[in-house]
Amino acid sequence: MKKRLVMSHDLPGQPDKKARSEGWDVVVPERGGRMSRVGLLSEVKEAFALVTLLSDRVDTELLDAAPRLKIVANYAVGYDNIDLSACKERGIVVTNTPDVLTEATADLTWALLLGSARRLVEGHRLVSRGEYQGWAPHLLLGQDVGGRVLGIFGAGRIGRAVAERSVGFGMKVLYTDSYPWEEGEKRLGAKRVAWEELLEQSDFLSLHAPLLPDTEKVMNRDAFSRMKPTAILINAARGGLVDEDALLEALDKGELFGAGLDVYDPEPPLQSNPLLKHPRIVLAPHLGSASVGVREEMGRLVIENILAVWEGRPPLTPVG
Ligand code: GLV
Ligand code: GLV
Repeated sequence: MKKRLVMSHDLPGQPDKKARSEGWDVVVPERGGRMSRVGLLSEVKEAFALVTLLSDRVDTELLDAAPRLKIVANYAVGYDNIDLSACKERGIVVTNTPDVLTEATADLTWALLLGSARRLVEGHRLVSRGEYQGWAPHLLLGQDVGGRVLGIFGAGRIGRAVAERSVGFGMKVLYTDSYPWEEGEKRLGAKRVAWEELLEQSDFLSLHAPLLPDTEKVMNRDAFSRMKPTAILINAARGGLVDEDALLEALDKGELFGAGLDVYDPEPPLQSNPLLKHPRIVLAPHLGSASVGVREEMGRLVIENILAVWEGRPPLTPVG
């Protein structure tokens, strides 16, 4: 069997170099480039390994075009872009890049939280447009963070790291998860609550659950109507968790103070989406893991997983 690796995108830190040095035949787009779907469908024919992004759909069409494929290494912690059962049926290992991006994603979550609480982007626009006329008692009043309630939906690695960061702000942590987080309960005084209670009590509600059929649009009209009018929603997980129309409606009806979003549904969002122009929403272009060091680590992990599967060792970070 040939050591052939197909990468749908050129990646930071050039992990393809590492693979080449291990004797792999690597198909990768030019610097900064990406492969079209059609290109990908034809390149995977001989591939043993495929590196994908969350924007690549790994479905039966792609898998059927790749009869020799043994591993799909997703360059992301989430893997809702991959048909896991179709991979399993074909004996294809799927891996992701957990852990290495946990802290960076928690940092970005906090950037959105603080930015929305203190209306930083509205302020930036005001100053950069030359419209700032000096200190004023009513100018852009936001919400306090210290001592408030931080609600975490999904206390996985990232949700926990977000909660850990609240200690310096003296916040009270509530979380909703199928499993208790004993360490967090002991050390941070975090309390596990039902979903309705999380909605009703949180001053900042931060989403950290994977996108699954039962988490899709958990933030719907009913959910928003239960929140405090002073509350802020943060989503650095997956756009599909939020019903964007319901979010806009909640903001316009004054059911919610603001939101900070790193993810959209669809992604990228349509230019015509009114969400993009809403003053109370802080928008980021899916930057959760976007630090120089983290993106290199993700590339390293992707290659390590591929080498392991080739050598018949267990992959480092399998999913499914
Ligand atoms: C990014 O969203 C990821 O899942 O890594
Ligand atoms: C998600 O998978 C996480 O790391 O929290």
